[in-house]
Amino acid sequence: MAQKVWLVASQKGGAGKTTIATALARHLSLEPRKPKVLLCDVDVGQHSSQLWYELRGKLPLGGVTLKQCAKASDIGRWASSGDYDHVVIDGAPHASKLTLDLAMASDVVVLPTWTNILSMQPTVKLANELVAEGVDRETILFTIVFAGSDFEVASAQETIAGHGYQVSKVAHFFSTSYGSSQDKGLTITESPFASLREQSKSFIKAIADLQTYKVTGGQG
Ligand SMILES: Nc1ncnc2c1ncn2[C@@H]1O[C@H](COP(=O)(O)OP(=O)(O)OP(=O)(O)O)[C@@H](O)[C@H]1O
Ligand SMILES: [Mg+2]
Repeated sequence: MAQKVWLVASQKGGAGKTTIATALARHLSLEPRKPKVLLCDVDVGQHSSQLWYELRGKLPLGGVTLKQCAKASDIGRWASSGDYDHVVIDGAPHASKLTLDLAMASDVVVLPTWTNILSMQPTVKLANELVAEGVDRETILFTIVFAGSDFEVASAQETIAGHGYQVSKVAHFFSTSYGSSQDKGLTITESPFASLREQSKSFIKAIADLQTYKVTGGQG
């Protein structure tokens, strides 16, 4: 896969960044050629990826390693070191200058949003600000999380596409059981419930493969 550096970012806290970053890192590491994946935690306040990594303990995690990241130059150094095939950055709770610097250093900027306007609007605003500051619009990938129904997803996808952004084809649906899986160090794609596991796998795969919603003719 050509995409090397993935940033998961949001304007608001609790948007699902760590959930996506941890599952995406694991998913990328499972590609047949067994790539080396660096999961970077920039959340210096909560260290959520770090905490999840510790909860995971001895459970296998393929070629994923974790590092704390305090500045965008770390990413450039690690990405060019030759030590990693992918770098996945779990963004801080709130967007900042660091978010912009990280976005500039990324091949894909994943912006999770809920389906409601109160979540979508700040996310579109963040995307617009990143683009205004020089981030390539084509690198931005919205993805819908905490969805409640197919109708909400379709409507949110249409809204985001209407703002001129790419949006991932598969959304992630709300289920309270994800939290307890994550507390055991599992990713959403390792949920003990088969239906949630499969839903999460197609959600993460759509991000990894950049499968996007197409306005004309629906999904593509
Ligand atoms: N699909 C889902 N259904 C229900 N709960 C979820 C789902 N996805 C994630 N969660 C839970 O929502 C909470 C927030 O998710 P997460 O920690 O990934 O967000 P975040 O953007 O990383 O938050 P922060 O900004 O604090 O770093 C977590 O408790 C997580 O377990
Ligand atoms: Mg987090």
